[in-house]
Amino acid sequence: MLEFSVSERKLQSALSIQRYIHTMGVVKEAKKLAKHYNADVYKCSYAGLLHDCAKDYTDDMKIRFCREYHIPVDDVMKENMDISHQFIGAEVAKREYLVEDTEIINAIKYHTTGRADMYITEKIVFIADYIEEGRKKFDTLYEARKLAYENIDAAMKFILKSTIEYVKSRNRRLHPLSVEAYEYYKKL
Ligand SMILES: [Fe+2]
Ligand SMILES: [Fe+2]
Repeated sequence: MLEFSVSERKLQSALSIQRYIHTMGVVKEAKKLAKHYNADVYKCSYAGLLHDCAKDYTDDMKIRFCREYHIPVDDVMKENMDISHQFIGAEVAKREYLVEDTEIINAIKYHTTGRADMYITEKIVFIADYIEEGRKKFDTLYEARKLAYENIDAAMKFILKSTIEYVKSRNRRLHPLSVEAYEYYKKL
C-alpha cells in the first residue's frame, strides 16, 4: 500500500476540486468515527481517501474499466453507470495504490450500495460519505449525524432507508446489494 501522503497527491490529479474537497471531508469524518468506535484510524481514513477514486471517470471510461477489470455490469448498473464507481474504485485501489487489505478494499467496494454484515471499516466509510461536513444540507442529514455517534448500526439502517426512499422517489431501480443491506440492518 502506498503511503497516505503519496496516495493523497496521486489522487488529487484524478479528482475534480469539488470531489477532492468532499474526499478530504470523508477522511476527516472517518477518522473521527474510527476514534469514537475504537476502529483502525489508518484503515478508515485510507479507505475514505480512496473511496471515490473512480467517481469522476466518464460513463465511457466506466464501461471500459468494467470490461477490463471483469466487473459484471448488472441491469441496475446499466441504467445508472455511476454505481460502478464503487467496484472500479476497489480495483483501482488494488492496482494503482497497491492496497491489499480486505477491509479497505471492501469499504471502497460497497460505499454506495452497502451490503449485509459489513466490517466496521466499511460502515465507517459508508456513514462518513453521507454525513461529512461539506455535504449540502438535506432533510435526513441531521438525524444521520446524530445517530452516527450514538449507534452505528442504527445509523446504517437509517441511511440505507433514506437512500432507498430517495432512489424510489426518482423512479430509479434499487441495487440488490442495497436491499440486502437494508434487510440485514433493519433486523438488528
Ligand atoms: Fe462514491
Ligand atoms: Fe463520496
